[in-house]
Amino acid sequence: PRKIIIDTDPGQDDAVAILMALASPEDLEVLGITAVAGNVPLELTERNARIVCELAGKPGTPVYAGCDRPMKRKLVTAEHVHGKTGLDGPDLPVPTMPLQQAHAVDFLIETLREAPSGTVTLCALGPLTNIATAFTRAPEIVERVQEIVLMGGAYFEVGNITPAAEFNIYVDPEAADIVFRSGIPLAVMPLDVTHKALTTAPRIDAFRAMGTKVGNNVAAWADFFERFDVEKYGSNGAPLHDPCVIAYLIEPGIFEGRHINVQIETLSELTLGMTVADWWRVTDHAPNAMFFGDLDADRFYSLLIDRISRL
Ligand code: BDR
Ligand code: CA
Repeated sequence: PRKIIIDTDPGQDDAVAILMALASPEDLEVLGITAVAGNVPLELTERNARIVCELAGKPGTPVYAGCDRPMKRKLVTAEHVHGKTGLDGPDLPVPTMPLQQAHAVDFLIETLREAPSGTVTLCALGPLTNIATAFTRAPEIVERVQEIVLMGGAYFEVGNITPAAEFNIYVDPEAADIVFRSGIPLAVMPLDVTHKALTTAPRIDAFRAMGTKVGNNVAAWADFFERFDVEKYGSNGAPLHDPCVIAYLIEPGIFEGRHINVQIETLSELTLGMTVADWWRVTDHAPNAMFFGDLDADRFYSLLIDRISRL
């Protein structure tokens, strides 16, 4: 199995991604989960990460708390999407598993220093603050990262937090800029992909039909999350953004994209956090990211439902 660290700001869709990864030990070895401030403040994201590990029956998974705010800006949160707790929807128990003592950034640095070079993949499901802070503090770890697979950005689908920007990149554009300039192989799941990964009614029914605690929780999260998106975007169900990252690691053939140059806007107030993606290759800037544009949604959901049903 591939060794991964999940960097996350749960978030209902982050929660489903974590469950999917923890349900896939033959493909993925989760070395740890690092929480970051994003959808809701850090006290809630680290707590939510522990709730999800317990729900998966994996309370031994190490969870670390990381940065409580972006590198240079004030934190912007998304309670309007995820509710006050970040995991609104079902009733969830208070977690009893411990939070690790170490800071998430130290865990990232130490793990990358100790593991053989090129054997650890970072899965980023929130603002990129923890990862960019680790790279800034310990630049020698950058070349040791195997790959970063992240949810963030948009091209044709433009923005969901401003007209120009996607939430994860917008919250910490300086951190995203560091990651996109790092030279590490990047696989990027933008809104162009995730807005096609919709939780339609039959898909939500499939989670509920599992008759398990996990299946019921995923269905309740999807119902909560969906209210917002269906009203706002008029789409047939809500996008399950972050699980696309995990699905890609398990079955990359589900996704289609292009290896292109992507740069992050950090200066303009109007388009702050925009992922300027050279989709049509109109510049000669070197490609730095595999930027996805499409997925086979039925294949994605059959993989997701199969993995979630194991828990
Ligand atoms: C991203 O922002 C968060 O609200 C979701 O968890 C996802 O990571 C989508 O823009
Ligand atoms: Ca997220």
